[in-house]
Amino acid sequence: MLTVCFVSEVEGGARAVGVRPDDLLLPAAQGADISGVIRQVLAGQHRFSGDDDDVLPICLPTGWLVLVGMGPEEGQNACRLRRIGGNLFGELADSGIARLNVALDLSPVEAAELAYGMCLRAWRPASRYKSQPDPDEAWSLVSATIVTRDPVAASAHFETLSARAAGAALARDLVVAPANELTPKSFVKRLKGLERLGVTVEIFDPLRHGLGLLQAVGQGSIHPPCLVGLRWSGADPASAPVALVGKGVTFDSGGIDIKPAEDMEEMKGDMAGAAAVVGALYALAARRAPVNVIGVLALAENMPSGRSCRPGDVVTSHAGLSVEVVDTDAEGRLILADALSFAASHYRPRLIVDLATLTGAVEEALGRHRAGLFCADDDLAARLLATGDAEDEPLWRLPLTEDYDDALASPLADLRNCIWGDGPDALHAARFLQHFVPKGVAWAHLDIAGLSEVEEDGPLAAKGPTGFGVRLLDHLVVDVFARECAVK
Ligand code: BES
Ligand code: MN
Ligand code: ZN
Repeated sequence: MLTVCFVSEVEGGARAVGVRPDDLLLPAAQGADISGVIRQVLAGQHRFSGDDDDVLPICLPTGWLVLVGMGPEEGQNACRLRRIGGNLFGELADSGIARLNVALDLSPVEAAELAYGMCLRAWRPASRYKSQPDPDEAWSLVSATIVTRDPVAASAHFETLSARAAGAALARDLVVAPANELTPKSFVKRLKGLERLGVTVEIFDPLRHGLGLLQAVGQGSIHPPCLVGLRWSGADPASAPVALVGKGVTFDSGGIDIKPAEDMEEMKGDMAGAAAVVGALYALAARRAPVNVIGVLALAENMPSGRSCRPGDVVTSHAGLSVEVVDTDAEGRLILADALSFAASHYRPRLIVDLATLTGAVEEALGRHRAGLFCADDDLAARLLATGDAEDEPLWRLPLTEDYDDALASPLADLRNCIWGDGPDALHAARFLQHFVPKGVAWAHLDIAGLSEVEEDGPLAAKGPTGFGVRLLDHLVVDVFARECAVK
């Protein structure tokens, strides 16, 4: 946890100052360079070039002075400032510095964005997973005081951003939780914090609500499946909500079509879509956003047992369509299909966005930098692409068409859940889902497999879960409602 505050001036203490390429000192750096020490250091041997991932701490008799690379002036935007903030935290977290004064000559909005980046980078798993704290992993940096000419304006802008960062942290906490700790039932228990913020939590039993696909996926586990409906009502009750739907497979063993052992432990994170929905609702409720939002979580554990769904089983969905389960490991599209159909009929939303770690195929197609976006509505797709770029959670649009219906045809049932062989499985999965969204409902599907965790430390997240989608969803929802307010 990092505490952030904004001030207009600071005296003494560890201080970070900005330098652009070609040794160009920003005004605060010039002010701090009374004895010419910065110039001396820059004239000596070092790897600091002023690029926006450079940080050079200098220990002076008077205390720490940290040079922060700000990159070139042109193209300085919110994304870049966040990364600079994130890198700064990453570099100094275990430096011994506890309190850092940050004097980077930033406007109030820029100061807030930098702080946002620092907060995002300042997450790590709860220490309770170890019996003893590891002294090598102790973090010293606990607070950042950021200098800007209008601290009140910076704090106001930061309010939204810090709620967004807290939402991302919550999503990461859920994704990192091992599957023996995070079952569908204990996932629900962890929604208490949301309830305290005024979000209502409703549980729907799949058997009582005709959610046959969700039941089929979860029936092999001793932890029964459930569907959760979250509701944040911050706007006029007559205003239709945005619905966010998340895949919440707390562990994906593959079921009877069990996965190979290698990397199977990563499948504890197969609930990252649901975690992102929870994180987004947290962010919205924490700052009492004037919007109406529904979160729908499809929670199940996909396990092999004598009660499991078998390959070849035919199951009736909530929408009424029957599905032949050709492969029990293509379970995400099954539970999402029921969740989408339920969300559309139960909540009558203006718009649905779902997130799911759905297919290994999307990772093969797009790598680990962009999530797959499937959306038949060009306006919604454009809005999502722009929001993803603004939040540094980029998307790439992929086809969603009836071309894949042949691959999804079953000789026995209305549909089959996948096709064996080399087909474009991410595209098949998206088209499969589309059959369960009523015509006329605006809907987008984000396949986030490959993005919910990073393998190396990055500017906004250390190795581990990213909380991908929280920032994007929160930003999108606010945008959708802002437009509505502007129209009125
Ligand atoms: N949860 C996986 C997808 C996944 C794979 C997420 C790797 C993150 C990393 C999904 O349920 C799955 O198993 N998909 C199968 C589908 C196949 C059986 C048609 C896959 O991608 O192999
Ligand atoms: Mn699977
Ligand atoms: Zn899965």
